[in-house]
Amino acid sequence: MRLPSLPRWPLAHLPTPLEDARNLSAALDGPRILIKRDDLTGLALGGNKTRKLEYLIADAWEQGATVIITTGAAQSNHCRQAAAAARVAGMRCVLVLSSADADPPAQGNLLLDYLLGAEVHFVRDRSERQPEMERIAEELRRQGERPYIIPTGGSTPLGASAYVAAAFELTQQLIANSWDVSRVYVTSSTSGGTHAGLALGARLCGDPFQVVGIGIEADAAAIRDVVLPLANATAEFLGVDARLGPDDLRIDDRYVGPGYGIPTAECLEAIKLAAQTEGLLLDPVYTGKTLAGMIDHIRNGEIGREETVVFIHTGGAPALFAQADALMASLKR
Ligand SMILES: Cc1ncc(COP(=O)(O)O)c(C=O)c1O
Repeated sequence: MRLPSLPRWPLAHLPTPLEDARNLSAALDGPRILIKRDDLTGLALGGNKTRKLEYLIADAWEQGATVIITTGAAQSNHCRQAAAAARVAGMRCVLVLSSADADPPAQGNLLLDYLLGAEVHFVRDRSERQPEMERIAEELRRQGERPYIIPTGGSTPLGASAYVAAAFELTQQLIANSWDVSRVYVTSSTSGGTHAGLALGARLCGDPFQVVGIGIEADAAAIRDVVLPLANATAEFLGVDARLGPDDLRIDDRYVGPGYGIPTAECLEAIKLAAQTEGLLLDPVYTGKTLAGMIDHIRNGEIGREETVVFIHTGGAPALFAQADALMASLKR
């Protein structure tokens, strides 16, 4: 197993806390709910990507990189954390952000990208991201720079390895507290590194819990087509024999709503409930929908009252400010 010997650039505050959300549990008349606070990884408002960036930035450094190039949506949490991580490592950061709006408002994550000194390039469509990153990398090479491209979400086998490590971290916390957890809820996306790493990590820990991925975009089949090969490529990369099959991945796509980044009424309700019971700030793109899925599983009886479940808070609260209107409208209802 290569994981302990992989180079890591220390960026995150680890282990992240695992908190007992008693008020949330009582409000739902539900199971014990533990919240794994990966929103508190600490780098420039934190989030799940900081774990991945510890490995990716170390790799970039080893390759002599001078500039990080990465990509996402205009409100990408990954891009904000990558911009901060590049700064810590003394590198420049170029972000290729897709946005239907040619000049999106400097709010939330985008505001922080500018503050962190990232060089921002906009493209209109997701499909233009990769070619644009390659074009910029070529141009930078001609200028004598050494660019390092991080694909969407840092979801490579190296990046996903961080969530294999997170599964070990969580399992140790559960053992130390004698918490017997049945399920771990996490966002599942078409980037997929977090779900892939956790699912593989759980397998390597002896499957102490089921990982339940709640889709926030696309449908379950499309997400599985990304997460499954990534989990198995990560296993190969780490030099472990374990392999996952399609039935090993639980992905529930019933809470996506109209699409990526468009909050549903249930998502906004979940954000409000988390804030007003636990003082916990979720986000409108990822964790709000994920908690909405978990709440529905509690209400429809899929999760029994006697169970203990974990919700992985992967961060993203800066995007709340970019969706202030939708949030305020829901608070007034
Ligand atoms: C807050 C938040 N949660 C979850 C995810 C999904 O993580 P992954 O890209 O590993 O699927 C992201 C990705 O950007 C995110 O920003």
